[in-house]
Amino acid sequence: MRQHQDPVRHGVADAGEGLIRVARMEHRPSAGLGLKPQHYEAAEAACADGLWFEVHPENYFVAGGPRLAWLDAIRSRHAVALHGVALSLAADVDPDPAHLDRLAALAERIEPCMISEHLAWSQWGGSYRPDLLPFPRTTQALSRIAANISRVQERLHQRIALENPTHYLHIEGHEWAEVDFLCELAHRTGCGLLLDINNVFVSAHNLGTSAEEYLDAFPAVLIDEIHLAGHSVDLAPDTQLLIDSHDAPVAGAVWALYEGLIARIGPRPTLIERDDRIPDFDTLMAERAQADALLNAAARRATQAQTALA
Ligand SMILES: [Fe+2]
Repeated sequence: MRQHQDPVRHGVADAGEGLIRVARMEHRPSAGLGLKPQHYEAAEAACADGLWFEVHPENYFVAGGPRLAWLDAIRSRHAVALHGVALSLAADVDPDPAHLDRLAALAERIEPCMISEHLAWSQWGGSYRPDLLPFPRTTQALSRIAANISRVQERLHQRIALENPTHYLHIEGHEWAEVDFLCELAHRTGCGLLLDINNVFVSAHNLGTSAEEYLDAFPAVLIDEIHLAGHSVDLAPDTQLLIDSHDAPVAGAVWALYEGLIARIGPRPTLIERDDRIPDFDTLMAERAQADALLNAAARRATQAQTALA
């Protein structure tokens, strides 16, 4: 497909003066797994069809040592995606150039199949907060974040995907619905979107909104990757909040949303995230296989539908 035929710029995205390379998985959209150090050996040896891994690049901003050596070894056998947590794209300052340099160096080394970040901020006055923090979705914020995304993509020479955040409280002052805000950022910058369905489910519960309506409104054509993760219930008895804790298997309700979505839009690369109370590798691989089976079924249905139309 030529660039001018691609309304969402999935081929080569124009980013100001330069061109953004769009990283692609070389095989069918398949399921991946968040990579944890305790699983390095098993991950390197794993041979499931289409298996890929995702890491937080900030954990690999080192000049050498065993952690980077493991990542190189795993990358030699599997595709690897970089999922950043500290670019602070929604902050009212430019992305830290030193941080960007380190991310670019790692991307050059790893050649990731995808690079993603969050629609959030975590940096204030030169110090980092250990959270992905919310902000009012104003037109002013949109312009600032679009500029930050463009700076990142220009530095990396690669399109990034932006992840929908998890919400725990109502914020005053929104001028944009979240899905519209994400769409406009993609339109202005050529970035893709990372749809975290657990984030959608948790946020809908916490804010009293509809996860189904959010997913129905989400632009399927912009989804580069899907995240699935587990959540937990806040221990404070009076809040009734769900916490995006990544410390449990994917909940049944999230699986149901996922299955309905990919049945409708077709398969997308899908990651199982797990960051706490981490089980053994085989347990996570079984969860990953569940996602992969659903992706295969969605791909078969899409092929059958195309055959029927031919
Ligand atoms: Fe996520």
